[in-house]
Amino acid sequence: MATQVPVELDRLFGQPSWLDRVADPVQRVVQDFFARQGRFGLEIRNFLNGVWLGHPLHAAMTDVPVGTFTTAIVLDYLSLLTGRRRLARVADLLTGIGVGSAATAAVAGLADYSNIEDEQRRVGIVHAFLNVLALTCYVGSLLRRGTRDRSGAIPLSTLGFALLFASADLGGRMVYHLGTLVNRQAWTQGPAEFTPVMPSASLADGQMRTARAGTMEILVARVRGQVYALGNTCTHWGCALSEGHLEDTSIVCHCHGSRFSLTDGSVINGPASSPEISFDVRERNGQIEVRQRPY
Ligand code: FES
Repeated sequence: MATQVPVELDRLFGQPSWLDRVADPVQRVVQDFFARQGRFGLEIRNFLNGVWLGHPLHAAMTDVPVGTFTTAIVLDYLSLLTGRRRLARVADLLTGIGVGSAATAAVAGLADYSNIEDEQRRVGIVHAFLNVLALTCYVGSLLRRGTRDRSGAIPLSTLGFALLFASADLGGRMVYHLGTLVNRQAWTQGPAEFTPVMPSASLADGQMRTARAGTMEILVARVRGQVYALGNTCTHWGCALSEGHLEDTSIVCHCHGSRFSLTDGSVINGPASSPEISFDVRERNGQIEVRQRPY
């Protein structure tokens, strides 16, 4: 029985299905929303994607509602068992904090959802749907707490908690089973010593090319005479940066538009949140040589 659940979930999410007919338009609505806000929308999306944090904000934000809702439900039932009103009041407060933080986490999750694909997107839409149901239960519970109707509030919180648990399980599946938004360069290692990768003469100004540095594929670009080198695998979803385009001293990924600085690999625009691996570069004896910087 224990092994049947993952198998059934693989069947449900593993191939194109009716879920795509829901997931696709929802994703486009979210993408259009950010696009309509122009530069401001880009800044907001960068913030929500966790560009400033170095990993998705959603993962960090979800700790708050999970922690507060879990503590609240324990206190709710303890208050029922002991009759202590103070426990009930703390549970009410925590439920309120949980609702506020869950709404914030949901917005960050939507920003991440706007640039995921395939099976991850199908799991993501069910994860989001369960979260909306859970949040609706908690808002209902909060309203009943406001009228001191605890016999109505606690069952709603209990149902919300069960939905949250199921949703969190799917969130874990997205990350740990499917690798959603995991840094695609996490296990890659470039050479620690300067290593020749191509003749200097083979890279014209304004041009970029791929090369091998040890076991790693890298992107080498020359901009205004200066040579830069980064890992070639986009940290967001694994697309080849060499298929993107140069924008001044940055490279824009063709898949979802992440933009990385050629200077140090930092993320300028998401949805990527992990920086790209970057290299020290020098030209010696007609060769371009690279050495990986600490990552
Ligand atoms: S793979 Fe998504 S932005 Fe590069």
